[in-house]
Amino acid sequence: MTPILEVCDLKKIYRGSSKPAVNRISFSMSAGEMINVIGPSGAGKSTLLRCINRLTEPSSGRVLIEGEEITGVPAAKVRALRRRVGMVFQHYNLVNRLTVMQNVMHGRLGYMNAFNGALGLYSEEDKQRALEILEQTGLSEFLYHRAGELSGGQKQRVGVVRALMQQPSILLCDEPIASLDPASAQVVMEMIRDVSVRRGIACITNLHQVDVAMRYADRIIGMNGGEIIYDGPVAGLTERMIERIYGKPMSQLMIGGDVSA
Ligand SMILES: Nc1ncnc2c1ncn2[C@@H]1O[C@H](COP(=O)(O)OP(=O)(O)OP(=O)(O)O)[C@@H](O)[C@H]1O
Ligand SMILES: [Mg+2]
Repeated sequence: MTPILEVCDLKKIYRGSSKPAVNRISFSMSAGEMINVIGPSGAGKSTLLRCINRLTEPSSGRVLIEGEEITGVPAAKVRALRRRVGMVFQHYNLVNRLTVMQNVMHGRLGYMNAFNGALGLYSEEDKQRALEILEQTGLSEFLYHRAGELSGGQKQRVGVVRALMQQPSILLCDEPIASLDPASAQVVMEMIRDVSVRRGIACITNLHQVDVAMRYADRIIGMNGGEIIYDGPVAGLTERMIERIYGKPMSQLMIGGDVSA
């Protein structure tokens, strides 16, 4: 079976920097898998996610989405492949003055021509899909609320729904809970796990909290200095390994809190 995502020897050196931000990154994942990525600040977690859909241009290496290469192909092909990769951001990236429904419909823009997109001429089918997903995720009561009026946790759930509107096969979440209180963080992590289990979407989530990462993943990737230090099941992530990933003794790592500081 073709993996949903294959990353082969990926490297990114930002202009003006001598040290790669990510280096020698190779892994693959299958449908419905949930990988949480941990590592200290500057480890390269965000760069890795952004290189996967070429929001950041990799310096070398290959990324294949459902067997099709997204690296080294023209912009039109990148746009088509990007539809299969949903993104969720720390700061939600919603348009606050627009309603929840309007924000969610933005998830369809990648499928529309510029004219229909600009006028908001979405198909009936798309609207029905939006209503269904909002219902399934308990957000229908907020349909006509402006995004700016929602709590952080609600905003992030809308962010996930918007990504689902793309009908992605991969979901990339960069610190989706970093701005949330613990209760909202739990709801959002459960939602992401649900997306992976029920919809069979391969999810990669960058997190700062090791305990959260372990609770909600099938598999952990630990990064340090741009490289993968650990790639394996949650059960294999020993204290020793966590110390190697963060480059600090366990006594200095606050499990249950943010370990990046
Ligand atoms: N746009 C950029 N231009 C130049 N260097 C960058 C850029 N973005 C990131 N870097 C550098 O690349 C390295 C990896 O950064 P990245 O943001 O990927 O790490 P991270 O693991 O996501 O960190 P954090 O946990 O703080 O979000 C760092 O040294 C960072 O300074
Ligand atoms: Mg980051």
